[in-house]
Amino acid sequence: MAKIIDTASAFYLRIKTLYDIEKQLEMALPKMAEAATNPELEAGLLAHLEETKEQSQRLEQIFGMLEMPPELQATETIRALIADGDTVASHSAPDELRDVLIAGAGREVEHYEMAVYMNAIEEAKGLGLDDAVALLELSLAEETEAEETLEKAFKDNLEIAAETESELSDEIDLESEIDPASDMSVEEEDK
Ligand SMILES: [Fe+2]
Repeated sequence: MAKIIDTASAFYLRIKTLYDIEKQLEMALPKMAEAATNPELEAGLLAHLEETKEQSQRLEQIFGMLEMPPELQATETIRALIADGDTVASHSAPDELRDVLIAGAGREVEHYEMAVYMNAIEEAKGLGLDDAVALLELSLAEETEAEETLEKAFKDNLEIAAETESELSDEIDLESEIDPASDMSVEEEDK
């Protein structure tokens, strides 16, 4: 385990952590997009995959500025968030509800990433690394925008799921009104 002796080494650790996060997401985002049904959600996830690749390149530029090798600091958190997202996406559910689950898992990832970028920005500011701050702020803006896209997908699909549910229950009510025998048979079964 590397020693953190000063704010510069703390920042280096942060960049290595971010690099690991982005590399993990480069592998996870295509799977999430594939699991999504809603075309807007799928397109949003694929667009963020392209941004994620650029974010990795920005981190490589920062490693260059620090004159340090681009290493990965394996982080449990991103692996756990991705694993939870996989579990959620593997549930059998109506399409729009699974999209709600996928968009929700994506939002949780984006919030985590935003927090790590915010920490990195403060550390870079403290070190007077203005060029690194500018690069990190670009990535933070993309994470924020990705979160907003996922928030919209989450809310839209949640609304569709709720509407479908109420339409279904209306249909069931209507059927039992038309065919009172169906009510009776339920009562009889209860006995
Ligand atoms: Fe990212």
